[in-house]
Amino acid sequence: MLAGKHVLLIISGGIAAFKSLDLIRRLRERDVQVTPVLTRAAEQFVTPLSVSALAGTKVYRDLFDLTDEAEMGHIELSRAADLVVVAPASADLMAKMAAGLANDLASTLLLATDKRVLIAPAMNVRMWDHPATQRNLATLQADGVLSVGPNSGDMACGEYGPGRMSEPLEIVDGIAAALGEGSLQGKRILITSGPTHEPIDPVRYIANRSSGAQGTALANALADLGAEVHFVTGPASAAMPRAAQITRVETARAMKDAVMAALPADAAIFAAAVADWHVTSASDSKIKKEGDGLPILSFAENPDILAGVAQLKTGRPKLVIGFAAETDDVIAHATAKRLRKGCDWIVANDVSPETGIMGGTENDVTLITQDGAEDWPRMPKSDVSRQLAARIAEALG
Ligand code: C5P
Repeated sequence: MLAGKHVLLIISGGIAAFKSLDLIRRLRERDVQVTPVLTRAAEQFVTPLSVSALAGTKVYRDLFDLTDEAEMGHIELSRAADLVVVAPASADLMAKMAAGLANDLASTLLLATDKRVLIAPAMNVRMWDHPATQRNLATLQADGVLSVGPNSGDMACGEYGPGRMSEPLEIVDGIAAALGEGSLQGKRILITSGPTHEPIDPVRYIANRSSGAQGTALANALADLGAEVHFVTGPASAAMPRAAQITRVETARAMKDAVMAALPADAAIFAAAVADWHVTSASDSKIKKEGDGLPILSFAENPDILAGVAQLKTGRPKLVIGFAAETDDVIAHATAKRLRKGCDWIVANDVSPETGIMGGTENDVTLITQDGAEDWPRMPKSDVSRQLAARIAEALG
């Protein structure tokens, strides 16, 4: 798949640069040719010698290295590879890229290249969350720059949150997808995510506590494997996926319409926390407190979107996956749910408060398939998404 491809790997300054040594090793194992470029700051974290030894080639460091200009100019260097990868991509280098600066070898190559660019950002959580970095990221994405990560977790600086560079194998997946070699290349995957809002009147609604974080993590993991993701989301508080077609809805009924309109798909994943009922007595104008006593709400059942798609006679996605958040008898309830809804898999988890899963960063899931229940070890939610994405790729062949 990746064998014979050529990656220009730009390593910028950051503690995550040590992971780039492993990234080089992983790429070399796959017979990928790696041409490494180190920024000045990167040399504070990894030595040119170790990078060169692992890559099995010369390391490029300086824009004004005349020998290199004679042998291979920076324009040629920027275009000889199939893909330019920046790992780690520091906040500083992202800012330079967004601004189009070219004042060292790395930024000059990035401005001169005619190849796709994939960045793996790594920085302190506050630097990542800073509006300037987010603005630069949006600019880069609009310019067609691809990205993988960052992940959330403990950081070398002692803080916690998004900013950790993706793991080397995740970056390898991102490289494969960027080169059109992802294991989900050409597959269309539909995901529902977030809560739904069911109006009571124009200003009030009934909602639930879903943040949409699991749905976004899954969308990112699937896109990293090259899938074309269509993301149908209720009003979620989590960030939107990096690379997906996004349809925003409010109610369960609108979510169902959006899902049906988004078909056909190779797989459909129902991660949304859909309201079971909507208010049939919803008012077109704001209900007044000074009215005739307390308002009485009447309800009707919402369509079960998952069951509807799982039981389609024609145009059913090959793989239909539901979620089950339970507080007791998780496996028994989830197994029954799989049969009742007619879906292929159920991702079940225990959301009892003592598990700390709801609103937490880790998840403890059981995958229910026709072959039975598979208990996965407790792991970060991003890892759950990545493993699930890999299983989906296997199932879709
Ligand atoms: O029946 P329950 O709500 O527990 O089922 C959860 C699964 O069904 C989730 O995958 C959820 O996205 C999906 N669902 C749906 N439409 C509904 C209710 C649930 O797609 N109206």
